[in-house]
Parts: sequence; C-alpha cells; structure tokens
Amino acid sequence: MEALAPYDHFHGRGLEATLEVAAMIQAGPADHLLDIGSGIGGPARFFAKRFGCKVTGIDLTPEFCDVARHLTRLLGVEDRVAFKVGDALAMPFAGTTFDGAYSMNVSMNIADKVAFYREIHRVLKPGAWLALSEVAKGDSGEPDYPTPWAESARTSFLATPEETRRGLQEAGFEVLQLHDTLAKSREYGERSRSAVARGDKPPHRAVILVHGEIAARMAANTARGQKEGRLIPIEVLARKA
Ligand SMILES: C[S@@+](CC[C@H](N)C(=O)[O-])C[C@H]1O[C@@H](n2cnc3c(N)ncnc32)[C@H](O)[C@@H]1O
Repeated sequence: MEALAPYDHFHGRGLEATLEVAAMIQAGPADHLLDIGSGIGGPARFFAKRFGCKVTGIDLTPEFCDVARHLTRLLGVEDRVAFKVGDALAMPFAGTTFDGAYSMNVSMNIADKVAFYREIHRVLKPGAWLALSEVAKGDSGEPDYPTPWAESARTSFLATPEETRRGLQEAGFEVLQLHDTLAKSREYGERSRSAVARGDKPPHRAVILVHGEIAARMAANTARGQKEGRLIPIEVLARKA
C-alpha cells in the first residue's frame, strides 16, 4: 500500500496531507466512513488500514471507481473498502448512514458548495465529523490555468476560507478547525522541485500520471498562485450539530 502512495493519493502533498487529515479525526473499527470524490482510492484504503474501519468511496468518474476496486482487490482490503459511482450532490445513500466523512481536493469543481455540504450533512449521523482538505481562493485574484483541478476557469469554483466556513455553518455544521497549510505546501513544492533538479522522482506523482505533459504547467501555476496569495490550501474539521 505504501509503495502506491505517490500515485493513488490524488491530491496536493499526497500521503502527507492524508496523514494530517487522519490526525484531525477520531475513528475506530466500528465506524463506517464516507470518502467523497474518492478517486482511485488511496485515501480510502489508507483510512481503512489506519483505523480498521469500513470506508465507502463515491466518485463521479466510473473509470476511477473501476481502478479503485481493482487496486483494492489486489491489496486484499475489499471486505472493508467499497466504491460507488455517483454525484456528491445526490448521493445514493440513506440519511444518517455514516460515522464520519472526508473529502480531499474535490470541492474546487463543485459550484454549489452549500448544496454539497447539505448533502454530506444528510448522510452523516448526528455528531459525526467532516474533514476537508482542499484549495481555497485567496484575495489577490484568480489563479492561472491549468491547475491540477481545472484546465480553465470554466470548471473551477473556489471559495475563500471564510466562505467555506459560512457555507458549512449554513448547511448545519459546527466548524471546529479551519487552518491554512500554505507554508507546508510551499515547502513541499520546493522539495519536489529540488528532487527533480537532482534527477530524482518527485515525492508525489499522481498529477503527472493522470495529466501527463501539462502536469508541469499545473504545478507551476499552483506554486505561483500560492506565492502571490491567489491560492490557499486549507484543512477543515467540522461536526454535524
Ligand atoms: C483530485 S481528485 C481527488 C481524489 C481523491 N479524493 C484523492 O484525494 O485521492 C478529485 C475527484 O473528485 C471527483 N469528483 C469531482 N466532482 C465530483 C462530484 N460532483 N461527485 C463525486 N465526485 C466528484 C473526480 O472524479 C475525482 O476523482
């Protein structure tokens, strides 16, 4: 599982960011977690292993769900980790199903954030937590495209950290933590660029794997956006009140 981590944690800072989300939450073997926008399943398999819990991932892209199921079978955790194709805005789950939910680098493609948070709120049990790790909008203008989540502004929907807080509250969540990870992201970017300059592989390769040649432009636009205060990576912990 660890050997796959540079490829199957498909979000900024890869496994390092997943470890931070794991440190923010509380989960145990009796819990059933929801991974919203689960990609090819790296985080879902990681959480199932770390906490001994059950994880269901949902993702809009059928091909990602196919790869997620295949890797999950290969790694022998299919008894605890499952994937469903579906839209985060209308999830095929009954109300009050899950003990906790997390979503990593997904909301940047969702225009109606309050509808997104309301739908998560619906499927969580009372008192359940929601952890988010994503990119927020800074106050110095729009980022340059392509970025890792959007080829153009047409499919990019960023909220500021404050808009994120208010949207969660409007959907019925209590926001327990909201902090930026700008310094960590910039240090990670520098570490990646140094590795490449030395002729080594960068620590995180999922974006290169999925996006091929334009990955370098995406990384450069992200680095510039962070430096100029246009992009702010954030982590959030909220609870269904
Ligand atoms: C950058 S990837 C992150 C994947 C995964 N969270 C991870 O960190 O490895 C974003 C994922 O969100 C999914 N996605 C985007 N919009 C969605 C929606 N409305 N409902 C469900 N999944 C969505 C995409 O298909 C993609 O797999």
